[in-house]
Amino acid sequence: MALWGGRFSEDTGKNVQDFTESISYDRRLYKHDIMGSKAHAAMLGAAGIIPQESAHAIREQLDKILLRIEAGDFTFTPELEDIHMHIESALIEALGDEGARVHTARSRNDQINLDIRLYLRDEIRIICDAVKALQTALVSKAAAYPRTIMPGFTHLQHAQPVLFAHHLLAYVEMFERDLGRLEDARKRINVLPLGSGAIAGTTLPIDREFVRKELDFPAMSRNSMDAVADRDFSCELLSALAIFAMHISRLSEDLILWMSQEFSFMVFSDAYCTGSSLMPQKKNPDIAEISRGKTGRVYGDLVALLTLCKGLPLTYNRDLQEDKEPLFDAIDTVLGILSVYPGMIDGMKLNEKAMLDAASDPGLIATDVAEALVRKGVPFRHAHHKVGALVRYAQDAGKALDQVTLEEMKSVFPEADESMLALFSPERSVAARDVFGGTGYDQVASQITYWKKQLELN
Ligand code: ARG
Repeated sequence: MALWGGRFSEDTGKNVQDFTESISYDRRLYKHDIMGSKAHAAMLGAAGIIPQESAHAIREQLDKILLRIEAGDFTFTPELEDIHMHIESALIEALGDEGARVHTARSRNDQINLDIRLYLRDEIRIICDAVKALQTALVSKAAAYPRTIMPGFTHLQHAQPVLFAHHLLAYVEMFERDLGRLEDARKRINVLPLGSGAIAGTTLPIDREFVRKELDFPAMSRNSMDAVADRDFSCELLSALAIFAMHISRLSEDLILWMSQEFSFMVFSDAYCTGSSLMPQKKNPDIAEISRGKTGRVYGDLVALLTLCKGLPLTYNRDLQEDKEPLFDAIDTVLGILSVYPGMIDGMKLNEKAMLDAASDPGLIATDVAEALVRKGVPFRHAHHKVGALVRYAQDAGKALDQVTLEEMKSVFPEADESMLALFSPERSVAARDVFGGTGYDQVASQITYWKKQLELN
C-alpha cells in the first residue's frame, strides 16, 4: 500500500502507477529533496515537534541515502511514485517510527516547490558560468581580429562597413542581458515555500525562519496558497532560456551564412563540423544548425509550461507534476548547446580577404558621402536625395559608385569636391565612425578592453 494509502481499500494497478509516476524524471531532484528534508528535520527537532534524537537519526540516515543514490545502490520504482516517496520510504525502512516523523508539518505540495527552487538555484549558477564561457570565446575571437572589416547588413543587404569584432561583441551584449535575466529569475526563485503545508500552513508550531536560514533563502513566501500553486519562477527561467536560445539561433544563422560558399567569410575547424554521407566535398556547420533547431524545442518547453499553468484553479493540482519535463529539457538543451558552442567559436578561422572584398563594395560608402554633404551644410534629407541620385546615375552609366569622376559627381550635386572621392575606403569609413557604441577602431578596441575586464580575461 502506498504511503498515502490509509483511506484506500484497493491498491492502484500497474497501469495507473505507470501513468501517475514521476520518479522516472524527478529523481534528478534527489540531492535537493534530501537537503530540504534535512533542514526540515532539524527544525522539527529544534522546535520540539519531534524528539531531537529522531531529528538526528533522520538527518544521519538521509546522508546515507544520498550516498546510496550516488553509488547507484538505490532502487527506483514506479510503485513509489516520486522522489519524495522514495526517500521517505527508505527512511522508514531504515528507522521505523523515527523515519515516519519526517513528513510532519509538510506536504509534497510545499516539498516539491522547495525541491525545484533549490535545484534551479544551482542550475542557474551552472548556466551562467557556461554563458560567460561563451562570452569569453566571443571576446577572445574579437580580440584576435581587432581590425578585420566586413560588410554590415540590414535586410541581409550590404549596409555599411563594420568591424568583425563589433559584430561579435553585439552578441556578447545580448548574452549579457541574458545573464541579467537569469540573475533576475534567480531572485524570485530564491524564496522559501516550505511551511505552506498542503495549502493553508500547519497547526504545529514550526519555525520557518529556522529553515530559511538553514537553506540560505533570503526570503520566505508570505501566502501558503500562492506558494504551493506558484510555478511563475519556472516560467520566468524558461522565458530567459527561450530568449537566450533565440540569441543563439540568430548567431547560428549568421555563422551558417558566413560559412556558405557565397559568403566564404570563415570556416569552423574540422572538429566542429561534419560531412555528408553522399557528397564527398561537404563540410557542414551542423553544430550551428542543430543549435538553431533546438531553439524551437526550448520555445516549446516554455509554451508547454505556460499552457500547463493557465487553467489551474488554486491551489496545487496534479497537473503541476508535468512542469518538470519541459523545465529539465530546456535546461539540458541549453547546457548542451553551451557545451559545444565556445569550442566552435574558438576554432573559427576567418577569410579576411573575402570579408574585406565584400566590404569594398562602394555602395557601402553612400551614407559617408551623404554625411560629407551634411558637413558642407546640406540638410541631411536633401543630402540623402542627392547621393541617391548619384547612385542612380552610376547605375545608369554602368559604373561602380567609386568610378564616378568629380565632374560627373558635380553634375549631380554642385557641392561635390575632391575629398568625397577619397571616401571610398572601407578602412576610412570604419575609422570615421568614432562615436561611443560605433564601429570605429578605437571604440571597438575600448569595448574589447571593457569586456576583457568584465570577464577577467588575462
Ligand atoms: N510528484 C508530485 C509533483 O511533482 C509531487 C506533489 C504531489 N502532491 C500530491 N498531493 N499528489 O507535483
